Amino acid sequence: MDTKGKYTETPMSLKQFHISEDYGFILPEPLNDLPLYYKPWMDIARIMPELICSHSLRLRIHNMPLLETHLLRTHRELGLAHLVLSMMTMGYVWQEGERETVNMLPRSLSVPLCEVSQRLGLPPILIHADTVLANWRKRDPDGPFSMENLELLLTLPGGESVRGFFLVTLLVELAGVPGLKSILDVINGIHYNDVAMVTKALDVVSQAIDSMKQAFKLMHEYVDPSIFYGIIRIYLSGWKDNPSMPEGLVYEGVQEKPMEFSGGSAAQSSILHCFDELLGVQHEGSSGAFLRRMKDYMPPPHKHFIENISSHPSLRSFVLQQADEGLTHAFELCVARLVDFRNFHINTVTRYITIPASRAKQLRANKQGMTEELDAIRRAPTALEERGTGGSGIITFLKTVRDETKEISIVQCTNGNQVLLDRSMAEIQKAVSELTTE
Ligand code: HEM
Repeated sequence: MDTKGKYTETPMSLKQFHISEDYGFILPEPLNDLPLYYKPWMDIARIMPELICSHSLRLRIHNMPLLETHLLRTHRELGLAHLVLSMMTMGYVWQEGERETVNMLPRSLSVPLCEVSQRLGLPPILIHADTVLANWRKRDPDGPFSMENLELLLTLPGGESVRGFFLVTLLVELAGVPGLKSILDVINGIHYNDVAMVTKALDVVSQAIDSMKQAFKLMHEYVDPSIFYGIIRIYLSGWKDNPSMPEGLVYEGVQEKPMEFSGGSAAQSSILHCFDELLGVQHEGSSGAFLRRMKDYMPPPHKHFIENISSHPSLRSFVLQQADEGLTHAFELCVARLVDFRNFHINTVTRYITIPASRAKQLRANKQGMTEELDAIRRAPTALEERGTGGSGIITFLKTVRDETKEISIVQCTNGNQVLLDRSMAEIQKAVSELTTE
């Protein structure tokens, strides 16, 4: 919705938070190479899956020269350097699975990784902003932003499934962009007390959340659950609350005391955090603490954008105050779609983690010969059976977050006192309760 010209005073713009009009939080056209000086890094990073599978990555990294980082000048160079160094870090730590982990990252990797991370305000570990937001290129630059026309810059073991996992998540991010842009219209509309403007903007937000779910469905087409569970997942795991690395990791040449960081997870994606802030979803207790901590794994301007949304007058209070049927309907639809997205996510996590985890337990108990696929599941890390890569106790956490989303529904609170329920509103309310999986 173009509001320019109608209201001149805009409270905030996307650009000031390094958010693109076309791509949202996605880095537009990421660099795919660093200056020649960094060739030793790129040579390793480009063949990571091969080096990991032949058990030779650690040796290559031990022989890697310690490079200076001051030659990395632009934000895009620093971004690619973070992706390269943090991917190598994951490969180094998890090359031998969960049993033969290391307690120290060698200085040729730890020193540049920590320097680059410090300049970007990011943690020295692989994050969502690396693997998804800054790890893509179009095969045909003039072609569409589609699975067929996209490829990863750098990858990890897991073949087509790892490609699918990162690129489908990228498409989910992209599908949310119209909703992200409309957040500004919601804020502006509240500022000018313009009910029609807020209603229209909320319609865009609810449509965007639905498009995110549609894009998310591609995960089931492109990612094999046994490859995800048995192979990919460990390389996204961190060294905080992870029983296979209880002490954390020493970054040699940086600090003698071990450090602990959560692994990469789309819980670090800013987009759902933005919708939660906009709608007024309150995450309490340990799930709230986990989600707040995940903001420290986002690029700082994106984290500031989320914080900025919450500094504006509350949308929910505005909707309650106006008691306008169309506005309330638009708000409720956003809540219903967000609950729906989270239910779909819970079902996906059940398919990709919970079911393979119980299969792995069975297979370990029952040792007869098995196919390659079952063997991958059997050998999957046991420490992660009940946990997400970010370290959370998964399903309870995800259900709590989903239920906290449902709690902001206005219809359930006002129960017809301030807002008259029309038929479609009642349908939304019914849909929200039916969508609850348990
Ligand atoms: C196979 C696909 C996926 C799996 C197995 C998966 C798994 C998980 C797990 C285990 C968590 C718990 C936090 C942690 O410890 O990491 C989580 C959280 C989360 N994931 Fe995913 N995820 C998948 C795809 C996605 C996608 C495509 C998105 C969209 C951007 C997404 C967004 C989130 C968010 C926002 C959270 C935080 C909880 C919430 O806000 O509801 N995930 N995911």
